[in-house]
Amino acid sequence: MTRQDPEGFGPRAGADWAVPALLPRLPGLDHTFTLLRQGYHFIGRNCDAMHVDGFRARLMGREAVCLRGPEAGRLLYGSDVVTRQGAMPATVLRLLQDKGSVQQLEGEEHRARKAMFIRLVMDPARVDALVRGFEAAWRAQLRPGTEISILHLANAALTRAVCHWAGLYPSEARLRQLTRVLFAMSDRTGHFSPSTLVTLMQRRRVERWLRQQAAAARAGGNAPEGSALAVMAAELPPEVAAVEILNILRPVVAVGRYIAFSAKALHEHPIWCGLFHSGNEDYITDFCEEVRRISPFFPFTAAVATRDVEWQGATIAAGTRILFDIYGTNNDARNFPLPHKFRPERMLDWKVEDPAFVPQGAGAVATTHRCPGEAMTLALMASAVRMLCNEMSYELPPQDLSVAMNRVPAQPASGVRIRVQRID
Ligand code: HEM
Repeated sequence: MTRQDPEGFGPRAGADWAVPALLPRLPGLDHTFTLLRQGYHFIGRNCDAMHVDGFRARLMGREAVCLRGPEAGRLLYGSDVVTRQGAMPATVLRLLQDKGSVQQLEGEEHRARKAMFIRLVMDPARVDALVRGFEAAWRAQLRPGTEISILHLANAALTRAVCHWAGLYPSEARLRQLTRVLFAMSDRTGHFSPSTLVTLMQRRRVERWLRQQAAAARAGGNAPEGSALAVMAAELPPEVAAVEILNILRPVVAVGRYIAFSAKALHEHPIWCGLFHSGNEDYITDFCEEVRRISPFFPFTAAVATRDVEWQGATIAAGTRILFDIYGTNNDARNFPLPHKFRPERMLDWKVEDPAFVPQGAGAVATTHRCPGEAMTLALMASAVRMLCNEMSYELPPQDLSVAMNRVPAQPASGVRIRVQRID
């Protein structure tokens, strides 16, 4: 069967990019509160208002340059004039990648560590193994007649699956705690409150446990051969192995957010479920890719210029923080006609290096900071969509499915609650 594209949303012919002469300054002294208020729209809306693709701002008292579009993507992914070191606020760094992680390395050291990630998380057999574990854990939680939030269902299933996949076998009590803490690490990144400090302390405890696991595996313990735990424990000191194992566990659990967005999209566009019954994998992938394009997740990524950078006729001084607008680039009408319409017919594909479609970064995965987890993300989303459409009947009770665009990371407010009617 060929994929249909009746409204002409298919692969793009080319984009008409405005070329700004320089980087204008956003009016005002400091724009931190504007950023918090406008959330995902901060860079895109201000670019639109000034008819440019980049501007200068002050964030938390520090000079920043905010950019969007493919050329900005190339600057942050694939050029040697920026570094990730010092780019993120300390709490965000500690909650997400952490010091000593692959994301904080550059050059040869980065390439070597990245190669290990690629071996571990992009190998199709390993991706399949994770998906099988996820499906088993998801099915085990479902009972006809019960009500459950897709976000919670996915988080719990992903935590169990990724721990076992990585060669970790926590007790049931620790699994429940890990489900909460791994989710909170991503969930607390966009704001600072007492709960941020609690999550940071909980993260330290998880890291301590992972360090012990890595040290035991290194000393000849019984980590399954070839597992992420065994490989990382053999190749890295225990404290670095703990950080990097967490760099797989945490983002795999974060895929639950995309699964909740997928369930919302299935509810709002029920026609797609009918197509998925035919088992056409291309349609399911197109659907999940469009969910990744349209759903707010990472608003932007950040780097620091290591020397003066010429950008479209303007100079970005060494030491300036540069923000690359992920959400705005994915939702730019010049590359995605009617960007706020959900159109899987766009046939997006992470395997094609498309500089306009950047939900998990841009460029070549082996040599840039682009996310190595896109194969896993897509496979897990597709599996959840298949199970929702083909293995069960459910309805959505009345609930708030709205998405607050100034809450980072965003999610459908209710987490998408379903009442399970039948399991097939
Ligand atoms: C939930 C969906 C995900 C989103 C939205 C996401 C997003 C991103 C983004 C935007 C980056 C680039 C950061 C930068 O440029 O500084 C990144 C990097 C990274 N991601 Fe993901 N990711 C996801 C899932 C995953 C998964 C499933 C894994 C592992 C299995 C993973 C592991 C990593 C690692 C290790 C890096 C650092 C790469 C490097 O610095 O070279 N991510 N991710």
